[in-house]
Amino acid sequence: MPFTELQRQLDERAAQGLQRRRHVLESAQGVRITVGGTTRCCEASGAGVPPPRLLPQTAGSASNVSEADGKSYLSFCSNDYLGLTNHPQLIAALQAGAQQYGVGAGASHLVSGHFAAHHQLENELAAFVNKPAVLLFSAGYLANLGAVQALVGRGDAVFADKLNHASLNDAMLLSRAEIKRYRHNDMAQLAQLLEQTKSGRKLIITDAVFSMDGDMAPLPELLALCEQHDAWLLVDDAHGFGVLGEDGRGSLSHFKSPPAPLLQGGEADDDIPPLKKGGRGDLAHCEKDNTLHSPRIIYMATLGKAAGVSGAFVAAEQVVIDTLVQHARSYIYTTASPPALAAALLASLNILREDDRRRGQLRKLIAQLRAGLMELPWQLMPSQTPIQPLLVGGNEETMALSEGLRARGIWVPAIRPPTVPQGKARLRISLSAAHSEQDVAQLIGALHELAC
Ligand SMILES: Cc1ncc(COP(=O)(O)O)c(C=O)c1O
Repeated sequence: MPFTELQRQLDERAAQGLQRRRHVLESAQGVRITVGGTTRCCEASGAGVPPPRLLPQTAGSASNVSEADGKSYLSFCSNDYLGLTNHPQLIAALQAGAQQYGVGAGASHLVSGHFAAHHQLENELAAFVNKPAVLLFSAGYLANLGAVQALVGRGDAVFADKLNHASLNDAMLLSRAEIKRYRHNDMAQLAQLLEQTKSGRKLIITDAVFSMDGDMAPLPELLALCEQHDAWLLVDDAHGFGVLGEDGRGSLSHFKSPPAPLLQGGEADDDIPPLKKGGRGDLAHCEKDNTLHSPRIIYMATLGKAAGVSGAFVAAEQVVIDTLVQHARSYIYTTASPPALAAALLASLNILREDDRRRGQLRKLIAQLRAGLMELPWQLMPSQTPIQPLLVGGNEETMALSEGLRARGIWVPAIRPPTVPQGKARLRISLSAAHSEQDVAQLIGALHELAC
């Protein structure tokens, strides 16, 4: 069988310390996770690589788990920024949704898979982010593919930050529009590229919070360039939605209401804002002034990170959403996500709107972590968000640090090329409102120990 070449490539990747592995969780996602084993896909052992050792299959076990250890870890490795993935209200809503609608959607949205819970969620999300209309997708990856491919094509141009998420990169390739990449957050270079582009539609695409760096795109400047050059702006707010801005409305809200950035000058914010009253009824009065607002902005956010469930949505002018319904292939040609997930997301949205304490706790933890990691030999990258990357550099060194933490019962993922540029491997520490100050202190202590 012609698999030798594939195996050679896998060996090469492993020899470079770039092998990707999966870890099998046996617990719910959360601050404490139980990892039952690590998948061993391939080993850098030259030509005669043995096949993966299979464990005996038990109900629910993965077939190629090789290092079962079933250990409990303090986790800094999820995007569950508000600690909602295992929230009782979401679980109850999911169960009630499954009782009402069953488990599977059974069809794509345009055939017969668009349920009342999906529809209600779209309406509530539109009100929450202050946009005229919303379209749900089954994943952020699919939302980006669908939106870019539906809005631009041959003869058009896409302008993309070099540190954008892979889904935006794949989306622009798929669109067949001309691709123009600018250096990370370099507005001068972007302006030049826009200036040189005379015909076709122009679409700027950017992460709002960069997923491996934790820093933010200058959205007001990007919008100003859009106005100047008659372009659209697709903002991927996977890591800002639920976390940033007023009531967690996301990065557009963050930029219009700057007095409460997540972090100010590395100092702890001792005042945790109280629980907000009002909730759903307040949405009708959502002020336009509270968000960075323009019909040019096409806003995408995911629902599997701070919102704690799964899926994504695009919020935009009605004409844009109508266009996506007609032309976004990743929307049209796929089974709708289970309606029970939409029911769980309605519960999640309620918590986002009403419980500001979680964001207050995150602010405190970010400040504590940043203050505690100042003296390390590795650079804590500038970030105001729950993504706090510790830049190590080499792949092996980063892996060793991640493993050193694991030996101390702490799970922090090592991020290596090609996800980040060569020589910029890092630990991606992600904080959750479910962490306690003691959890963060434990991580700080362990890193200091490993630095000695
Ligand atoms: C910036 C960004 N965009 C899009 C996605 C894709 O979202 P999803 O996981 O819902 O497919 C991710 C997820 O990792 C992301 O970090």
